[in-house]
Amino acid sequence: MRIGILGMGSAGSRHLRAFRRLSGVDLIAADVDAERRRHAEADGVSVVPSLNDLLAARPDAMVIAVPHVYLAEAGMRAIDAGCHVLMEKPMATGRDDAAALLERARRAGRFVMVSFVHRFRPEVAEARRVIARGHIGQPRLIVDIMASGASDMPSWVWSRRHAGGGMMFYNGIHQIDRARFLLGDDIATVRAEVRTLGYRSEVEDTVTALLGFRSGAVGTVVQHKAPAAALGSWDTQVFGSIGSLHITTGREMRWTAGGDVVKVAGMPEDRFLGAATEFVAALREGRPPEPNGEDGLAALEAVLRMYADGPSPTVSSPMGKDTPPVEEPLLDASSHPRR
Ligand SMILES: NC(=O)c1ccc[n+]([C@@H]2O[C@H](COP(=O)([O-])OP(=O)(O)OC[C@H]3O[C@@H](n4cnc5c(N)ncnc54)[C@H](O)[C@@H]3O)[C@@H](O)[C@H]2O)c1
Repeated sequence: MRIGILGMGSAGSRHLRAFRRLSGVDLIAADVDAERRRHAEADGVSVVPSLNDLLAARPDAMVIAVPHVYLAEAGMRAIDAGCHVLMEKPMATGRDDAAALLERARRAGRFVMVSFVHRFRPEVAEARRVIARGHIGQPRLIVDIMASGASDMPSWVWSRRHAGGGMMFYNGIHQIDRARFLLGDDIATVRAEVRTLGYRSEVEDTVTALLGFRSGAVGTVVQHKAPAAALGSWDTQVFGSIGSLHITTGREMRWTAGGDVVKVAGMPEDRFLGAATEFVAALREGRPPEPNGEDGLAALEAVLRMYADGPSPTVSSPMGKDTPPVEEPLLDASSHPRR
């Protein structure tokens, strides 16, 4: 099976390393940036300069890992060329583009997977199994906090023109998918406060949101990118009718139903490998991969509903001292924020 990877940035290179570990997969990549191409080629993969060149190599499937504004168009062109697609989140920056991509895939008989790799974290997968087996009863409340300190991120993430949205698109959409996945439920209502508190940016660095699920369960999501160093972790708690569980991302999952506390700790993880394995297995078995395009659309819609509640006016202080300029050349690989 030949797989093409569009974009050799932070996500694309992790996809490349993951797919490389699967047998029977022949890889080719593309990036518009010469330095990124050289870097990936030094790693032993053939890298062409454009999507057209990549499609000319006639891949069976494509991974689309470029800045948000390019995702939907690149995905549609790959589908039109007969490819199944593994779309990086948020799949599109608008609902209509995402829906059009799914419709095009359906008509063409191609599969769409969305790269919600947190599902492949062992502690999250184990938490889903605990909930699905009914160990904590009917889920009633999920609390998900993903607050991070300053880190190196591509500068386009801070530009509305390039990213379409801010930290909810780049990070928080994982929280939405994780909540739907863990509860096995659909989101019915969304309310949010959307703020730009710490970065000189036109998109948000902070969101607090309230979710209502079809089942009647409720949830709260906190997404925050601090411009300074931060302590803390990414925490997810689910409270059910007879028990509860607590995930500390990357570290452990604990659950109890009143008796002993069951602890699952220290699990090695490679979430990109988990996603690659699922994508290839599904294509070989001729079944839709999970998480699928509908999962992507549902999470995107929830984020867009948050954005409809904001953004609030940017506060002028405090600002991060060395935050990236709002407008950077999109395709300049050297344009990562410098701190
Ligand atoms: N699933 C995850 O956990 C995860 C993690 C990080 C990023 N992402 C997602 O991956 C996507 C890319 O983010 P990133 O952090 O890798 O960004 P990045 O800036 O590190 O990489 C993007 C790459 O795409 C290239 N590119 C831009 N336009 C192109 C075009 N038209 N044709 C070919 N190449 C092009 C750039 O030169 C760059 O090398 C985004 O959708 C982002 O949300 C997902």
